[in-house]
Amino acid sequence: MKAEEQVCPACGLRSPWEKPPRKCPGCDWVFPDISHPESVTIEGHTRGLWGSIKGQFVIVGPDVKIGRGSVIWNLVYIGARAQIGEDVKIGSMTHIDYDTVIGDRTLIEGCAYIPPLSRIGRDCFLGPNVTLTNDPYPPTGRDLGAKVLEGVTIEDGAIIGAAACIRAGVTIHRRAVVGMGAVVTKDVPQEVVVVGNPARFHSTREAYEARRRTWLRRMFSKESSSPSI
Ligand SMILES: CC(C)(COP(=O)(O)OP(=O)(O)OC[C@H]1O[C@@H](n2cnc3c(N)ncnc32)[C@H](O)[C@@H]1OP(=O)(O)O)[C@@H](O)C(=O)NCCC(=O)NCCS
Repeated sequence: MKAEEQVCPACGLRSPWEKPPRKCPGCDWVFPDISHPESVTIEGHTRGLWGSIKGQFVIVGPDVKIGRGSVIWNLVYIGARAQIGEDVKIGSMTHIDYDTVIGDRTLIEGCAYIPPLSRIGRDCFLGPNVTLTNDPYPPTGRDLGAKVLEGVTIEDGAIIGAAACIRAGVTIHRRAVVGMGAVVTKDVPQEVVVVGNPARFHSTREAYEARRRTWLRRMFSKESSSPSI
């Protein structure tokens, strides 16, 4: 049986299709692993799509990088020059704007808003509906003048609970935890848990891990004591 052929979007070479990701023999374009090509838009000659776009209706801007093992789900927008590391998961309906960085193994749940200039480290967790902001005083009208933006920084291992909202320019330091629904207006020190509006100290990451272990033990003991069908 003749192998299916594919035209390289970068150099136009027609060559046999193999399981992606693979490089075009004519140039260094990487054929991305896209489950629904008819609904995915890739703008420009992005050459760094090593991950999988499993969702439908995904838009990827120019010069985006998606590392190996990363998975993009439905209705996701990824703006120009976004750098997404390896083994990252981007949940459905998440908006990742231009000039953003997302580190390896970070998990971003659905409906998150990651505006331009956001920096997210490795091994982070962002719950559903998390909103990062980058303009503390947004203007109105069409004559916006000079656009000045200040991104949020989330350092390695931090956890941002569902629907938390973070002020422009704030840094969430290493392994900090932001509780669900928190409004974070100031930097959060490393290894600290904050909750509320405005977010205030709740406990330490150590206490969080201890609570988590207790909860897991309770859940597992429930499971093992439930009658089998
Ligand atoms: C912050 C968090 C880790 C605290 O959990 P915890 O240590 O078990 O805290 P407790 O439930 O014992 O709460 C202690 C106090 O803090 C309050 N509190 C807990 N979480 C809060 C939150 N997110 N916002 C405001 N107050 C909160 C509780 O109401 C309680 O107050 P009280 O002493 O006046 O009754 C947890 O509430 C949280 O937000 N987890 C993130 C969940 C999430 O977003 N998951 C996403 C995957 S779907």
